[in-house]
Amino acid sequence: MCRAADFVILIRGAEFSPHSTGRQRFHGTKFLQMRCTCQAASLLVFLLSLAPLLFGASSPASTLLVGADRRPAITLDGDWHVIVDPYDNGYYDFRMQPRPDGYFRNEKPDASGKLVEYDFAKSATLSAPGDWNSQRDSLFFYEGTIWYEKDFQYQGKPRTRTFLHVGAANYVSHVWVNGQKACDHEGGFTPFDCEVTTLLHDGENFAVIYVNNQRKRDGVPTLNTDWWNYGGLTRDVSLIETPDTYIDDYSLQLQHGTGSTIAGWVHVVGGKPGIEVALKIPELGVVQKSLADAQGRASFSFPTPKLQRWSPGNPKLYDVEVEAGEDRLRDSIGFRTIEVQSDNILLNGKPIFLRGVAIHAEAPFRSGRAWSQQDAETLLGWAKDLGANFVRLAHYPHDERMTRLADRMGLMVWSEVPLYWMIEWDNPATLANATNQLQEMIRRDRNKASVVLWSVANETPNTPARLSFLKSLIAAAHAEDPSRPVTAALLVTTLPDSSDGMRTKVLDDPLGEYLDVLGCNEYIGWYEGPPELANRTKWQSKYNKPLIMSELGGGAKFGLHGAPTERWTEEYQAEVYRQQIAMLKQIPFLRGLSPWILMDFRSPRRELPGIQDFYNRKGLVSNEGQKKKAFFVLQEYYKTLSSQSK
Ligand code: GCU
Repeated sequence: MCRAADFVILIRGAEFSPHSTGRQRFHGTKFLQMRCTCQAASLLVFLLSLAPLLFGASSPASTLLVGADRRPAITLDGDWHVIVDPYDNGYYDFRMQPRPDGYFRNEKPDASGKLVEYDFAKSATLSAPGDWNSQRDSLFFYEGTIWYEKDFQYQGKPRTRTFLHVGAANYVSHVWVNGQKACDHEGGFTPFDCEVTTLLHDGENFAVIYVNNQRKRDGVPTLNTDWWNYGGLTRDVSLIETPDTYIDDYSLQLQHGTGSTIAGWVHVVGGKPGIEVALKIPELGVVQKSLADAQGRASFSFPTPKLQRWSPGNPKLYDVEVEAGEDRLRDSIGFRTIEVQSDNILLNGKPIFLRGVAIHAEAPFRSGRAWSQQDAETLLGWAKDLGANFVRLAHYPHDERMTRLADRMGLMVWSEVPLYWMIEWDNPATLANATNQLQEMIRRDRNKASVVLWSVANETPNTPARLSFLKSLIAAAHAEDPSRPVTAALLVTTLPDSSDGMRTKVLDDPLGEYLDVLGCNEYIGWYEGPPELANRTKWQSKYNKPLIMSELGGGAKFGLHGAPTERWTEEYQAEVYRQQIAMLKQIPFLRGLSPWILMDFRSPRRELPGIQDFYNRKGLVSNEGQKKKAFFVLQEYYKTLSSQSK
């Protein structure tokens, strides 16, 4: 006799819920546990396990078109009708089974009398790009599902494929076009492209995008973060057209070493093996042709004697044209080398010091998730005012406008995936998800000269499960992009103080063995001791590797003044920086820093009334653009450093 308890079905990584996409999880990270024995029950279980397939849980995989922002696009930005759906009523029936008549059908109550209990056309709107939390007070704290719907006109063209492009949507998304499933995506900070060629009609069309930002134990990031969990269609949405045969990915890098050889590849989809791919850099007189292999990849390697290398002092970008069949892509790319030699970071073969600052994608002045050109210009403009040549874009990939602008402004970039604090390290599905987000991050920005470092983690616990998880992520980063060093923001060991009161910090995290560059977060003077403790602290490292102090600093409320010993005053924060700078100058293997943080940013963990009010106040600039005293302390230090490096 079968017992109810036996009806437990768990497909690791593919729970029956809209909160998972199952895509990357169907890459061999699943195992089925059925504990029921009798035939009838097994048949029932088998049918139930097919339910998601019947209801579209496993749908066409999304892809990522490199250079998508350089392709002609039909924008779908602007107002979308939305339904706030905290109970996932648009996805599930009362038995918590996926509904065949879910909101993705975009049905309308009509005279037929059929019961339809939603109507997008009569529903309020939210704007995309834009998080929902900062658009409506009632959604300020909202974590859950919101359905987005937009009607649009479209006219198909011969020999043309169409993709629905999403710059980013936090956190899990399901996309339908004209009621048909287009794709799914997990991860709130990387782009995805869903092929919708066969789903579109000539004339009237509609897209429905389910977005859920609920934090999940097995998510990336996981349950606890020190930033606001802004949900929604947070970056551009558009339709992108390509010819039947199109270029979906390419990599062009200056080869390491002293020469000026550009090497790389172009990947073509839908082309016959042997299709000719052309690469042109008009300003350098470069016209190169190569034939794609059976996997659609055409390789290139050619000298460019007249090349000007990209650097902060000369952020030279070249117009590059890539052609295959009828497809043409234009990009602007800088060429430079970045490598590590013992404890030095070399840019174009020369040791460099990274004068940096950390930045969250928080919109200046209006708050909310930053996405616009104006947001990028304001944030990177302040970094330039500081005298920075480097920015740590924390803790997740930022809008592509940031890395494009950094390319033009000559700012080097640390780009990061949100493996933050307590990830579910022993969960294969979480590793698959993290790897997918990492590959998407690298793929989108692989041709950005400004991006000099990939970071795989921030302040993660020193456990065996974490070490093996991150070792595989580091290997995945090197496999996806062998041209850039990999780092992570580590915590540090503090030795007991010596009798003379000196404190010693030792970089000995076992993960350091596998990183190319060490990052370290420390808050001497804020979470640890008074500011002057920094001046009594010395640093040692188990590794002969360069160190970037990836976080340091303290909080201050702009306009609050007092003694340098009074927390939350600008004077206290400035003192923390003065003492930190004195300490940093003593660290022989220090090759850069990115103090925490350029601008105050929203965090649900910061609730001190009158001071924090849901803002982390460690900014050097307030969220209203007011520069605090510490800004000028750091600016002075960077002025000295840059004059010394001339
Ligand atoms: C941590 C963390 C940041 C956080 C900061 C802080 O180091 O990496 O995300 O905001 O400390 O406490 O302000």
